[in-house]
Amino acid sequence: MNVLDLIQSEKHQGLPERYRELSTEEMVRRVSEIKEKFGNKLYIPGHHYQKDEVIQFADTTGDSLQLAQVSAANKEAEYIVFCGVHFMAETADILTDDNQKVILPDMRAGCSMADMANLEQTERGFNKMKAEFGDTILPLTYVNSTAEIKAFVGRNGGATVTSSNAKKMLEWAFTQKERILFLPDQHLGRNTAYDLGIPLEQMAVWNPISDSFEYEGDLEEVKVILWKGHCSVHENFTVENIKEIRATKPDMNIIVHPECSREVVELSDDAGSTKYIIETISKAEAGSKWAIGTEMNLVNRIINDHPDKEIVSLNPAMCPCLTMNRIDLPHLLWALEELEKGKVHNQIIVSEQVAEDSLKALERMLARA
Ligand code: 13P
Ligand code: SF4
Repeated sequence: MNVLDLIQSEKHQGLPERYRELSTEEMVRRVSEIKEKFGNKLYIPGHHYQKDEVIQFADTTGDSLQLAQVSAANKEAEYIVFCGVHFMAETADILTDDNQKVILPDMRAGCSMADMANLEQTERGFNKMKAEFGDTILPLTYVNSTAEIKAFVGRNGGATVTSSNAKKMLEWAFTQKERILFLPDQHLGRNTAYDLGIPLEQMAVWNPISDSFEYEGDLEEVKVILWKGHCSVHENFTVENIKEIRATKPDMNIIVHPECSREVVELSDDAGSTKYIIETISKAEAGSKWAIGTEMNLVNRIINDHPDKEIVSLNPAMCPCLTMNRIDLPHLLWALEELEKGKVHNQIIVSEQVAEDSLKALERMLARA
């Protein structure tokens, strides 16, 4: 069931009204109390794009790779209350033991990019690609994809990638097959392949709606097939934003996430994963100036953490990722109070077969990450 089906199903319950009436102080007090009470039985991983009101309770903060790794390493916690989005909670469920329960405080915390590739489209598309190229294609999927897509990739010999290890994984993939299908984010795929020296002319886009290639050259030349998906947050950084910064603040360094378009990455001074962006700004000299092209909760946190540097968002009208923002203090408290009552609310359960096949794709990545 995808996220949309789930929230429309009877299983989904909205936040009870009483949580809207509680003061922030009361919610902070209650969450702290419950965390204290559960101790090591409860573990809260928090993605860097989460709001501060949630991040303050995270036992670990990280990007998708780090959170996948800490979830796999934690054997103590009975309950993992995942503060991130649905595909990350699925990954945590796949990597944790059967007696560990993964909970997503709000089922509406999906990801529009992950929803851009479903299994039916992917199987149909892959069969058409194989009809064109024979058995020369290895699929790689960004972890920002549903467990069903990870399972498809695992069954077909491929692996997952994150923005921190995409280059390494693409290099590995080319030792396996002549061509790579990269899904669901065309931009991360294109930017990574370009960095490895593959010319843009050797990359074709696969349109899963029209079920066809968007490509003008000779298909025989194609090395990378890019699924036509994108992140609806990072696509909001534009060439216009860069021109504006260059014109008004020429001494600013521009650093962006590789989910931004090729044009934006090309015109920026630097590009890298969430982790890379955080580390680069941390290491930068006091007084240095930065325009950052990534999610806004994170950019605001970086600004607060570095008062000695001048930092702005590359797009001044940028908003946080709306689905990440679904996880807020009231939903976190609700999930924890249910646990206190002995009820597991919003558990993420990946079916056995899907988990088994996804694990193959995840393990091929974790062995190399
Ligand atoms: P990373 O955490 O891998 O940088 O991914 C960014 C993102 O968009 C997460 O949803
Ligand atoms: Fe998905 Fe983009 Fe939000 Fe990440 S930032 S959860 S990729 S929509």
